[in-house]
Amino acid sequence: ARTFDLVIAANRLPVDRSVSPDGTVTWRTSPGGLVTAMESVMHEREAAWVGWAGFPGEAPDPFDDGLLRLHPVGLTAEDVTDFYEGFSNDTLWPLYHDVIVPPTYHRSWWHAYRRVNEKFTDAVAEVAAEGATVWVHDYQLQLVPAMLRDRRPDLRIGWFNHIPFPPVELFAQLPWRAMLLRGLLGADFLGFQRPDDARNFLRGCRSVLGASVKGDVVTWQGADDGRLGAGPRVARAGSVPISIDAEGFRKLADSPGVRARATEIRASLGDPEVVLLGVDRLDYTKGIRHRLRAIEELLADGEIAPPQVTFVQVATPSRERVEAYRTLREQIEATVGRINGDFSHLGDTAVHYLHQSYGREEMAALFKVADVMLVTPLRDGMNLVAKEYVTARHDGGGALVLSEFTGAAEEMRSAYLCNPHDIAGLKETILRAIRDDPALKRRRMASLRRRVRRHDVQTWAEAFLTALDAAPGKPAVRK
Ligand code: G6P
Repeated sequence: ARTFDLVIAANRLPVDRSVSPDGTVTWRTSPGGLVTAMESVMHEREAAWVGWAGFPGEAPDPFDDGLLRLHPVGLTAEDVTDFYEGFSNDTLWPLYHDVIVPPTYHRSWWHAYRRVNEKFTDAVAEVAAEGATVWVHDYQLQLVPAMLRDRRPDLRIGWFNHIPFPPVELFAQLPWRAMLLRGLLGADFLGFQRPDDARNFLRGCRSVLGASVKGDVVTWQGADDGRLGAGPRVARAGSVPISIDAEGFRKLADSPGVRARATEIRASLGDPEVVLLGVDRLDYTKGIRHRLRAIEELLADGEIAPPQVTFVQVATPSRERVEAYRTLREQIEATVGRINGDFSHLGDTAVHYLHQSYGREEMAALFKVADVMLVTPLRDGMNLVAKEYVTARHDGGGALVLSEFTGAAEEMRSAYLCNPHDIAGLKETILRAIRDDPALKRRRMASLRRRVRRHDVQTWAEAFLTALDAAPGKPAVRK
């Protein structure tokens, strides 16, 4: 079998298979920030990408996608329920996002998590060449680093977390907290979105494992229990904030097709003076309810009104079998219905709500239409929508309202920063973003755009791989 010097392991492949009722098979780009970022970096490299094809059942055979070799991992229906929907998205996801909804802890989900992490480890071990670099991604695969190291000590292993890493006060809730950190410590370098995430991880190692931490290096003496990642280990942790393919996205946004589509969208909205836009996966971390509350109050106060001002919310369907996501959808849809009932008129809609997923062209066109972009998560690892928006607005227009609770806010200081929990404050910030002097808004947007252009996804990938190369990589000496 072919082996590779660089192997990516992520829960999803960059493409999802979908089968329509008549049996037609199509591959579509997977949702979410991870794939958006990695797809553009990996396109030019020869590497293998190990991931799930997005449906339960036997794994399809490996296949090529440009220079990338895609290696599907097969998840059974039970794996999907217990590993993906359960442990990944109903235990870790809420725990790592400040317990916005309460995490669920089930021992059987944990067993499934271990089992599926083994499956990914098997697949990586098979395609990794001697001495290869393996780049593991995200919260779904936190045991892979140690599982892989136990099996293949020749490999250089890095892990990057696309989502926040929680403070130890929350992380300590996890019944399997020690095993999870042991899993991660199999990596030579652990990359995080923000310095605070890296610090949270290091503090966790100290307080949960009793490891010693000096600067950004953690040294663990190991355990004599023969269980996963029994150590000893030395690893480095640091922040390497992810970004987008700024040049590619700017070109796309400036293409004649996207411009024409933007004009068309604006006209179909009735050529309003101000278009407010939100674009999110339908997820409770994204602060959609808080945003809707602010919009509803602004309408009630008479500060905004259709047809002059209209709000477009794209909510991409996500994790629809997980209870918390269903509840959220019901709440959002009830709220949108109420707002439109109260404030829309025939032909003038207050809130355009789209529970749909759109391609990159349509997204770019929507960004070009948005006078004010509302990115108001309660917690978000990075938020690439914010970066895409400012990049699409090469024309200099627009304004970005951005939650302080995103990784993006660390870098995008000239956005209209907001605290989404403070509804009165959020309303004021939205009004400022609408009414501020256009010259001032232009300056803010120009500075944001420069920032993203200088720190694009290529810089990010190189920074990560360089840090991984330079990481200590020697096992600690056992006392
Ligand atoms: C976030 C996560 C990704 C995940 C994506 C979509 O961006 O960091 O790992 O793939 O959301 O979520 P899903 O559950 O559909 O993969």
